[in-house]
Amino acid sequence: MLVSAKDMLNKARDGHYGVGQFNINNLEWTKAVLQTAEELKAPVILGVSEGAGKYMCGYTTIVGMVKGMINELGITVPVALHLDHGTFEGAKKCINAGFSSIMFDGSHYPIEENIKLTTALVNTCDILGISLEAEVGAIGGEEDGVVAMGECADPAECKQIADLGVTMLAAGIGNIHGKYPENWPGLSFPTLEAIKAAVGDMPLVLHGGTGIPAEQVKKAISLGVAKINVNTECQIAFTAKVREYIEEGKDLTGKGFDPRKVLAPGVEAIKDTVREKMDMFGCIGKA
Ligand code: 13P
Repeated sequence: MLVSAKDMLNKARDGHYGVGQFNINNLEWTKAVLQTAEELKAPVILGVSEGAGKYMCGYTTIVGMVKGMINELGITVPVALHLDHGTFEGAKKCINAGFSSIMFDGSHYPIEENIKLTTALVNTCDILGISLEAEVGAIGGEEDGVVAMGECADPAECKQIADLGVTMLAAGIGNIHGKYPENWPGLSFPTLEAIKAAVGDMPLVLHGGTGIPAEQVKKAISLGVAKINVNTECQIAFTAKVREYIEEGKDLTGKGFDPRKVLAPGVEAIKDTVREKMDMFGCIGKA
């Protein structure tokens, strides 16, 4: 069953571990993440960016696919289907399509506009039992063609958004999407501590989970992060293994050209990445 992310994140916050959001791109991705979560008895969040949503033929297709897989694969762990970095329009579409969790990313608006639009979604999500993530302070890097400069969120603004009654809050603390550059100074823990002090109990979300050193991720969890988003790392792992298969000429022997065979090593690589991250986040066995 699809569930809101609220309970799993509140439990993670109280238990001092993190729940992974793994972004999905297609059927193989979704199956790999769900099977690994079930194998490790870990709660999981499937993230869908608007770009990936279009690629997978729209939100209703995704809801159908995910619900079908949960049923057919006998998935018993809590699964939230979550819009990642949604626009206001995208959020409305996902709510109508049956997503169990929404991120409205109003971080690029002036704070007053972010508050206005987030407020409009709070009551609807509350009534429908859908978890709502808001964002303050843009996450750096590039995702789906949206480029943002890294910034650290203002704790006072974080409090203003948290007080609206959202379920969880993404706040920039020097994290960026995609690969971190050589000269990345690392996460700003003083910023995280100030945000946590301002927002109290609110579970915090760490975007840009790819390539953050384990000790920094663990410290962030100890300071109030309850959800960590991972996308690029699964993509890199998947593509490297598919490349290896083709470069070794395995598609040229026997029935090696069968797409199920071509993609299989990539799927295993996604599973390995998800296992490694779940171990790092401490959520194994928490379902
Ligand atoms: P990465 O692609 O850097 O792992 O970030 C994922 C993310 O934050 C999705 O919102």
